[in-house]
Amino acid sequence: MARSNISKLKVLVTRPIPEIGLNVLKEANYDLIINSTNRPLKPSELKHMAKNVDAILCFLTDTIDKDVIEAAGPNLKIISTYSTGYEHIDVIEAKKRNIKIGYTGNILTQTTADLAFGLVLCVGRRIVEADNLVKAGKWKYGWCPDLMVGTDVHGKTLGIIGMGKIGTEIARRALGFGMKIIYTNRTSIARPNLINLFPNFTDIKYSELSELASRSDYVIVCCSLNKDSYHLVDKEFISQMKKTAFLINIARGKIVNQKDLIAALKKKIITGAALDVYEEEPLSKNNQLLKMKNVVLLPHIGSASTETRNKMSERAALNIVNVLQGSDEKALLIN
Ligand code: DGY
Repeated sequence: MARSNISKLKVLVTRPIPEIGLNVLKEANYDLIINSTNRPLKPSELKHMAKNVDAILCFLTDTIDKDVIEAAGPNLKIISTYSTGYEHIDVIEAKKRNIKIGYTGNILTQTTADLAFGLVLCVGRRIVEADNLVKAGKWKYGWCPDLMVGTDVHGKTLGIIGMGKIGTEIARRALGFGMKIIYTNRTSIARPNLINLFPNFTDIKYSELSELASRSDYVIVCCSLNKDSYHLVDKEFISQMKKTAFLINIARGKIVNQKDLIAALKKKIITGAALDVYEEEPLSKNNQLLKMKNVVLLPHIGSASTETRNKMSERAALNIVNVLQGSDEKALLIN
């Protein structure tokens, strides 16, 4: 699909990606415009660099709105995001112009589920707090009857908000730890499908959101962000949680009303929280969460394993090559 014998197809890569994906693009002999600074481009920079490109490889830190799409111009055929979520892309505008949107689909499901379950263990058993204590030289008396006493994980109830691919994999891990599972989902999962997914079906039950709040020892948010899930976890939800419970969010920050969560943590309405995502990323230096002992805070690293990031890089690049070569069926597209 070369425009002429001399002009190469132009691809904008908005941040550095692992070598494997870059090689895919290099082998296809594109003219690569790469932001190699690792800092997200400002909207004005993004618009400038996107001019006349045939494809954009972007990240969830880039807002690909109508302005950017318009700035790119009529050559733009595909926006390929190095993520599973694509709420940062104006899907309607892209569809209107017949621009394809590529994403990384299920590549990161297992890796994100690993991290999610890690957070359950971390917050319940105070792993980060205990590590900090030892490293700060505050471990005084060896074994201690009341040192860093936490909450069990086995035998407890895990409430999963959003039983999609990641939710299902978290449930699988939780069953291995002897937890009971209750879940909510936008669409109810048919019993035969549930039995298929979990032969040990007795320990997994559907529940309404408020029942999930009041019965869970650990609530984990793993649904996608949309107009129905925006601030789904708010003051009302948290006020129904057990005083001994923990909230974990590995999905999107805007699903949890952060102000309400901070207020609840301060008043000890729940025992703690573990967050990988926030309403604003990165957190500002004066965010109150940073001073709280009863929270574990991660910098949005759900998919951050070398293996998975390599696969994401390759997939995001292949989506571009596939679409630019007219083999859409080989690409992972949302449209
Ligand atoms: C995604 O892909 O949506 C994650 O949040 C980032 O890896």
